[in-house]
Amino acid sequence: MDLAKVTVERLIEAARRAQAQAYAPYSSFAVGAAVLGADGRVFLGCNVENSSFGLTVCAERNAVAATLVAGTRPAAVAVVVNGKTVAPCGACRQVLAEFDPGMPVVLASATHDSHEVMSLDALLPGAFHFEKP
Ligand code: THU
Repeated sequence: MDLAKVTVERLIEAARRAQAQAYAPYSSFAVGAAVLGADGRVFLGCNVENSSFGLTVCAERNAVAATLVAGTRPAAVAVVVNGKTVAPCGACRQVLAEFDPGMPVVLASATHDSHEVMSLDALLPGAFHFEKP
């Protein structure tokens, strides 16, 4: 799916709002994610860290959960950080691939006016898919 420019901008703006809510007292690395639902609505997620570091949940997976609980499915995602853009971590790539292995992934910066749109299959070639025997 190709994202319209207006949709890319809408997702980046939403992800910036999500980033403002990040709970990242340990890394100080605030991440915001916005998922475009299959029904056109947009859902937010931020990273939520924990003093038991392994319990940290990434912004992308929190946005995916918000999408599902609202009754729709992820169709695209934008990720916003400060400074140089980052791609979702491996765990989040696999979680996103569950819903559409080719979904558009927008990588954006809150501090630079730049972004990039990638396809998830370029970020996670050979994703695991479970097929019932
Ligand atoms: N983080 C995300 O929220 N998304 C990613 O794709 C990579 C990392 C968060 C987890 C942690 O709170 C902080 O960034 C530093 O790793």
